[in-house]
Order: sequence, then C-alpha cells, then structure tokens
Amino acid sequence: MRFDISGKKILFGVSGGIAAYKALEIISLLKKSGAEVKVIMTKAACEFVSPLSFQTISQNMVARDMFEEPKAWEVRHISLASWADVAVVAPATANICGKLATGIADDMLSTTLMACKAPKIIAPAMNTAMYENPIVQKNIRILKDLGMEFVEPESGILACGDVGKGRLASVEDIYEKICQVLLFSKKDFIGKKVVVTAGGTIEKIDPVRYITNHSSGKMGVAIARAAYYRGADVTLVCGNCSAEIPKNIDTIKVESARDMYDAVMTASEDADIIIKAAAVADYRPETAAENKIKKGKMESISLASNPDILAELGEKYSGKKKLVGFCMETENLEKNAYQKLKKKGLDLIAANSLNEDGAGFKGDTNIITLIDKSGECQKTDLKDKFEIANIILDKVKEI
Ligand code: CTP
Repeated sequence: MRFDISGKKILFGVSGGIAAYKALEIISLLKKSGAEVKVIMTKAACEFVSPLSFQTISQNMVARDMFEEPKAWEVRHISLASWADVAVVAPATANICGKLATGIADDMLSTTLMACKAPKIIAPAMNTAMYENPIVQKNIRILKDLGMEFVEPESGILACGDVGKGRLASVEDIYEKICQVLLFSKKDFIGKKVVVTAGGTIEKIDPVRYITNHSSGKMGVAIARAAYYRGADVTLVCGNCSAEIPKNIDTIKVESARDMYDAVMTASEDADIIIKAAAVADYRPETAAENKIKKGKMESISLASNPDILAELGEKYSGKKKLVGFCMETENLEKNAYQKLKKKGLDLIAANSLNEDGAGFKGDTNIITLIDKSGECQKTDLKDKFEIANIILDKVKEI
C-alpha cells in the first residue's frame, strides 16, 4: 500500500549492519511518496554502504561526522533534530539501542536522536544471539516504555549463517510504520476491541470446485488497517481475499460461512465494535462430495442455507455492542439497506451500489452511502478504500 506523505520531514538514521543497503530501498519509497529525507550514517554504516548512495537517493547531504566543517552556520545535530517530523533508525544495531536506552551521545546519530523530540521508530537488525541477549532486550524494553515505536525483526537465515530472529523487518513493513506514525497520530480507538470481517466465503462442492463471489477483501482489510492505526485492538476474520493483510493485525483465516460464523461468534464475545464487510454466501451445497464429481454427474446442486452471521450478532448484541453491516445492491440501494439495518438490529450500514463506476468489489476505490438507525444517509464521493474505511470509523465514533 502507498501513502501520500508529501512534505513530511524524515530523519533517517542508518547504523552499521549488512541490512544497511535495505535502507536505500526504504528511502526510495519514502521519496516516491512525497517525503523529504535527511540521512545520518554512523561510521560503521559507511563501511557497508557508501554515503554517496544515500546522498543520491535522499537528494540531500548525508551527515556523518560531528566535527566536519558545516556548509552553513548551524549546530548540525540540533538543527537536524528540530527539523524532523519523525526519526527512524533502520537498521538499528545493539549499539545504538544501548546508547539510546542509557543516554550515551557520542556521535552524530546518537547526539541528534538525543536532541530530537519527534516520534522515533526503531527497526533493529542483528545476530539472533545478540538480539536475544537480556541486556539488548532490556534496552529495547526501556525504549518501548519511553514510547518509541519498534518494527520487530523477522526470523530467517541471517547474513552470518545463523537461523533465527534478527533479520531487518521488510522494507514494506518499515515504510508502512513510518507512514502510520506520520499520518495517524490520532489514536481515537485505543482501548476498543474491533472485530472486522473481510473477503468472500468459499463453499465446497467437491475437492476441486466451490461456490464463491467476487469479493477481494480490500474494503474489510482497509477497515481493519485503519482501526489498527487508530489504536484499536483488531481481530480480522478473513475469508477468500486478495488484499495484503498487515502482519501486525491478529487475523483468523476462514473458508466457509460456517467457519466464519464460529470465528466471528468467538471473537465478538469481548468486542466493542463489529464491522461485517465480508461477502458471506447465503447458500452452500447441501453436501460436499469427498471425491471429484465426474462429468455428467452434476446436472444440479442442492443447496442448504448458511447462517446469517450478522443477523445473529444483532439478536445477541443489538444495543450492547456497535454493529456495522455492509450491503451490496443493484437496485433501491437506500431502501434495501435501511431494511437490512432494521432487520439485523444494526447501528450503521454501509451500502454499495454495483452500478456506480469505481465502486464495489475488486478495485481500490469505493463509493458508499452510510445509513444510521435514524435513517440519515451520508453518501461519500469516489475515494480510496482506505479513506472510505476512515470515514466509516469516524461515523462509528459519532454514533
Ligand atoms: N451477512 C452475514 N451472513 C450472511 C449473509 C450476510 O453476516 N449469511 C452480512 C454481510 O457480511 C453484510 C450484511 O450481512 O454485512 C448484508 O449482506 P448482503 O449479502 O448484502 O445481504 P443479505 O442479508 O445476504 O441479503 P440479500 O442477499 O438478499 O441482499
């Protein structure tokens, strides 16, 4: 996913590790998204990647030495510190984590970070044994307690040949975290548990064939992502889905409507808000054949009804939890949507018309009409699904 971070100022610290080259890719993405980036490299980082590469990709001079002759009069570590909207260290070594946690400021990166009041994001990368060392873990805990954001390292084969946790998080994950911190300082869903469903269900006919629908899951995943960014504790129950799901979101993958029913009912027990964006199949084949059905043996399929998950949630929780439904209509959009809201005991329904260009299943954009219990309608313009997700959450807060 790409974000618009035009004009945002990012101070990017690179410390010494083999993953330093990946910082180039992250900075390139940040630049393409409109940000201005200024890089500080430690002495060790310069052993791995040339400062010239960072200078070229960031289109700014790279700061390295505390005592180099400044190009204009300024106390460089102070001016960089106050310039930044956010400070990032990727890769962050055990050394820089230790310095930050204990207040050591002895080079350009550590002094600048010490003087910087902007939010900080740390993406550690080091050998597994180093990462697991209790002193390093203690330092990381100190930094987290101080409010610094971490992008956890991944597990895998490390450059030293060891296998374990310590590999720098993916470029995408670090990019997304930076954008999240820059764009979503508003944490208005902290303390709320939100269950979101996304994607289409799959109803098996036999081991080869199934019934499903065109749902891509993009709208539901966008809602889960927006709620997560805004501080909610999110559980995503996800059927067949082509959208990329952020790793940090607690996700339960399901296949059939009945699997979704079980997962949603359990996850909803302690939820405050339930948003059902999934396209649930109303019917399933009465029986799923154990073996492939041969040609000529499947002239018709008898169907059985699936549970209406949202209607059951309405029966159980209407008035107790906030319930939000979706509906996809091809005619009488507002009338049909309001009837569904009433019938299923919802607080809000987001109605999609399949007849409007840019709205509906597969694309990255949508147009919705939000209808609340009083029947009040609010129609959005054509917008990115992530923006639509935030409009839905704003409305949820309002009701
Ligand atoms: N829904 C559900 N379980 C079902 C069917 C739908 O939980 N078995 C939910 C959907 O996730 C959506 C809402 O109910 O939030 C409306 O879904 P929609 O398919 O538009 O409506 P239906 O109730 O299935 O009615 P119809 O198909 O007749 O339009």
